[in-house]
Amino acid sequence: MQKQRIAIIGAGPSGLAALRAFESAERAGAEVPEIVCYEKQDDWGGQWNYSWRTGIDQYGEPVHSSMYRNLWSNAPKEALEFAEYTFDEHFGRPVSSYPPREVLWDYIDGRLRSSKAKDKVKFATAARWVQHHEDTDTFTVTVEDLKTRTTSSSEFDRVIVATGHFAYPNVPTFEGIETFPGSIEHAHDFRGAEKFADQRVLMIGSSYSAEDIGVQAYKMGARSVTLSYRTKAIGHDWPQGMEELPLVERFEGNKVHFVNGQVREFDAVVMCTGYIHNYPFLPSDLAIDSPNNVYPSGLYRGVVWQENPNLYYLGAQDQWFTFNMFDAQAWYVRDLILDRAELPSAGDRAAHIQTWVKRFHDLSTEAEEVRFQADYIRDLIDNSDYPMFDLDAVVEIFLAWVRDKKENVLTYRDKQHRSVMTGTMSARHHTPWIRELDDSLQRYLSQPEKDEIEKMMDDEDVVKSVRTK
Ligand SMILES: Cc1cc2nc3c(=O)[nH]c(=O)nc-3n(C[C@H](O)[C@H](O)[C@H](O)COP(=O)(O)OP(=O)(O)OC[C@H]3O[C@@H](n4cnc5c(N)ncnc54)[C@H](O)[C@@H]3O)c2cc1C
Ligand SMILES: NC(=O)c1ccc[n+]([C@@H]2O[C@H](COP(=O)([O-])OP(=O)(O)OC[C@H]3O[C@@H](n4cnc5c(N)ncnc54)[C@H](OP(=O)(O)O)[C@@H]3O)[C@@H](O)[C@H]2O)c1
Repeated sequence: MQKQRIAIIGAGPSGLAALRAFESAERAGAEVPEIVCYEKQDDWGGQWNYSWRTGIDQYGEPVHSSMYRNLWSNAPKEALEFAEYTFDEHFGRPVSSYPPREVLWDYIDGRLRSSKAKDKVKFATAARWVQHHEDTDTFTVTVEDLKTRTTSSSEFDRVIVATGHFAYPNVPTFEGIETFPGSIEHAHDFRGAEKFADQRVLMIGSSYSAEDIGVQAYKMGARSVTLSYRTKAIGHDWPQGMEELPLVERFEGNKVHFVNGQVREFDAVVMCTGYIHNYPFLPSDLAIDSPNNVYPSGLYRGVVWQENPNLYYLGAQDQWFTFNMFDAQAWYVRDLILDRAELPSAGDRAAHIQTWVKRFHDLSTEAEEVRFQADYIRDLIDNSDYPMFDLDAVVEIFLAWVRDKKENVLTYRDKQHRSVMTGTMSARHHTPWIRELDDSLQRYLSQPEKDEIEKMMDDEDVVKSVRTK
């Protein structure tokens, strides 16, 4: 009998979870389908594969990653840890709870570095079109080799879409914005806050990007940082020099009028206004059309396209949990493909979706949302052989993180958390985040001697005496 053929589109953490899931079944002796993974970048890692580029890449494709040079994990690593490849296993010693970007790329890469997974990935190859054939119930996937500029088509029995949904910016407009003389960029194109030193910076938005890019700007010496919210203020007790105002009403040159009547002048604007789900390689009847939320519609168990259950999505939800959620999804999808898990009838799937959509609509607090996502993951793991982990303990880590941020948005990354996978308490990073200016893996893993200024900063008596002068 001919082997099934599976296409995975995207080799970020979700696509890699799918590769790892099949690999783990194969290692255990299972016969697995033929797998081809298409990745439009030259390397894997998705968002974590940093690019200095903005706009269009070297192949003329939209740049995928929205990450910036000095991005550090914004949630504890203990909340995203793989259940079957721990930080202890990767680093061989405890590391701190909020690693910088390069360190997390290394962890993602490390899980597959010694496997044959890379042989299955066609890099610099963009999916251009996916067509489903009713008669054979198969898909034709057309891709472009970006280096040779040649297109080719192949047949597949199933398609896994793992292209992420934080790559196409949502860019609103505001009256008079064209008169603003300073720089205007979307968070997707933001690469570093050094340029904001001594500038008055406006972040439009009130979610993770606004919070973190705002704090980056503060760290790099912005003269002032203003965050503008549409629905709800973040509400932290911001450090001096940072403030929150309601939505921008209009621009008038470098003056910005806010809906509460306040007016401020700015030198730079960052639109932290989120992203849109966009799947230019899919016909509309196969593509998610949803705002960014924890239960996008049309997906059974958050992964199976209800209208065509041979098409799957990984990582399509808004994310509290990340890497271990993608794993739970990938293991479940793999088991459906290997016929180890049974796919219910269309009617039963619709009823299941309805139950979860109702639960989703009833959520009203952050704590409820994170518990909802934990329950969602538990349901997936219950239906596969991914190692179950203490999801309630991870919920508590998330809630502690939310509290830590409220307490002090400049110091929450200095806190330590305990791994629910290994019981290991994280290390304390050698330098407080606000003073750490080198985000490299090398620096992170080093044990640097404190320089004279750092010693003085650590000596409270010296700091007090300077403050009272
Ligand atoms: C600015 C930012 C910061 C973040 N910080 C954190 C954090 O601190 N901690 C955390 O846990 N999560 C963070 N995230 C969440 C992030 O979404 C996940 O960690 C993770 O990267 C999602 O994995 P993914 O594989 O689903 O998508 P992605 O990482 O987006 O990967 C998708 C892959 O698909 C490829 N692709 C896209 N289109 C095509 C195509 N047509 N053909 C072929 N390949 C294609 C892309 O090149 C990419 O490699 C952050 C996200 C953003 C945007
Ligand atoms: N590691 C890190 O430090 C880090 C940093 C940045 C981002 N991230 C990740 O990146 C992902 C995306 O985060 P995100 O903050 O970019 O997007 P997001 O969470 O989807 O938030 C989008 C924000 O834009 C606002 N918005 C949308 N349209 C608007 C409009 N027309 N006018 C004003 N405001 C508008 C929304 O406000 P409403 O509430 O009114 O809709 C919301 O505050 C998340 O997974 C996050 O964890 C991580």
